[in-house]
Amino acid sequence: MIKVAVCGANGKMGREVCEAVMNDSSMNLVAKIDIQGDSYRTIEEAKRYTEIDVIVDFTQPKVIYENAKYCLRNGINIVIGTTGLKDEEISFLKKLSEDNKVGCFIAPNFSTGAVLMMKFAKMAAKYFDNAEIIELHHNQKKDAPSGTAIKTALMMSEEKESFKKDNCPEVETIEGARGGTSYSDIQIHSVRMPGYIASQEVILGAAGQILTIRHDSMDRKCYMPGVLMAVKYVKEHKNFVYGLDNIID
Ligand SMILES: NC(=O)c1ccc[n+]([C@@H]2O[C@H](COP(=O)([O-])OP(=O)(O)OC[C@H]3O[C@@H](n4cnc5c(N)ncnc54)[C@H](O)[C@@H]3O)[C@@H](O)[C@H]2O)c1
Repeated sequence: MIKVAVCGANGKMGREVCEAVMNDSSMNLVAKIDIQGDSYRTIEEAKRYTEIDVIVDFTQPKVIYENAKYCLRNGINIVIGTTGLKDEEISFLKKLSEDNKVGCFIAPNFSTGAVLMMKFAKMAAKYFDNAEIIELHHNQKKDAPSGTAIKTALMMSEEKESFKKDNCPEVETIEGARGGTSYSDIQIHSVRMPGYIASQEVILGAAGQILTIRHDSMDRKCYMPGVLMAVKYVKEHKNFVYGLDNIID
């Protein structure tokens, strides 16, 4: 049985993860960790009372880096759903994971449909000159753009070094109207609105044609199969992985 602790256990994602872990016959939910509610307050505190194989973290951008470093330095495999890690932080976590041989699985998006959207966008990238991403999330989201949008742009940039951005002679009369520039000059636009959970559109353009690839998450349950796959993966492989796409064919 894999001993799983959930950090951020009382949050929207954390509650779903606790339920999914309890319903998986190969896992035991050994600890709930959260700064609110009836839980251990820190990973350190939980570790004093129970053995933990894998921590699943769905907390918030400002705490995830410290949580991850603590786990990797203390032999606890970690699955990171929390978004907002910077590139240099991810590089350092990779190094810690490899040096200490402790599993670290980071996925900006655990939903299988979203991973396929990213793979399709990557596949399409080399056939189009222009690309922009619009991501739409609930208004409680603490980071912009979404980790999924950044990861999508990164994957597309592996197929195409630079998309055209100077083919519209624009004047930005409202600052930020054209969004932010990401990998390979892909513009990313973030919409925040009550009612959305997580949606994303990748729009690719070439002379005479537009391809739109869209994914909508309707319920947080869509993330759970991916989270459970990652828990099993890190327990077995104890290595560093960035992106669910690496373990989905
Ligand atoms: N990777 C994915 O597929 C995916 C999907 C959805 C959300 N997310 C990300 O997951 C994170 C959580 O999202 P949410 O909607 O569940 O947020 P939420 O605000 O509902 O839950 C966060 C929980 O973390 C707790 N928390 C905050 N600081 C903590 C700390 N220092 N120690 C322990 N617990 C702490 C809060 O009390 C809260 O219960 C966000 O970064 C979000 O972007 C990722």
